[in-house]
Amino acid sequence: MDDVIIQNMVIEDVDAVLGIDKKIRKIGEAITYQHATTEAILTIDRIGRGKNASSYADMITGDISGMLETSFVAKVSGKVVGFIISRKASIGEPATEIGLILIMGVNPDYWKKGIAKRLADALIDKYKAMGVKELRIPLDERDMQMRNFFTKLGFGVGHMIDYSKKL
Ligand SMILES: CC(C)(COP(=O)(O)OP(=O)(O)OC[C@H]1O[C@@H](n2cnc3c(N)ncnc32)[C@H](O)[C@@H]1OP(=O)(O)O)[C@@H](O)C(=O)NCCC(=O)NCCS
Repeated sequence: MDDVIIQNMVIEDVDAVLGIDKKIRKIGEAITYQHATTEAILTIDRIGRGKNASSYADMITGDISGMLETSFVAKVSGKVVGFIISRKASIGEPATEIGLILIMGVNPDYWKKGIAKRLADALIDKYKAMGVKELRIPLDERDMQMRNFFTKLGFGVGHMIDYSKKL
């Protein structure tokens, strides 16, 4: 698509971003993100802050300014049709800075038009400019849609696997 514009995410985009999240969940296509919602990632407290709020942006409780610096939206004719939210993270010893993709989504009406790829490319350019040398996204093993997408972009599966025990 030629008329897609990629921009840094700003607070004013939050309502549209949550609308996309909702639309994807409605069609049951959020396997990796069954329990992690965009609402929670953006620290939105609908119950505590809902009463006097005119938009979801008014219900944000945390400082998400750092996160917004490394998050992007895709717009078509001024309308947000996709987003990618990430933050910097420190891993390992000695600590190394990486980029961590927290969630992303494209409005299903705009799938398969290269929009998610444009968002990921913008994020990669941003982290490169910051001197960050690795970008990661934890994915559910069963999420073939996201796995295929990131494989196509040149991401590979790491060697660490997650052992856990319910207590
Ligand atoms: C995965 C997702 C981001 C892809 O968005 P998109 O804009 O359609 O992706 P693109 O058009 O940029 O695709 C780039 C490549 O990824 C691969 N790809 C994308 N969607 C795919 C799918 N459903 N199955 C297999 N491969 C896929 C293709 O190889 C594609 O390249 P091609 O078009 O040359 O074949 C989108 O389907 C999505 O939002 N899924 C839901 C994600 C989610 O659960 N979010 C949490 C709630 S917000």
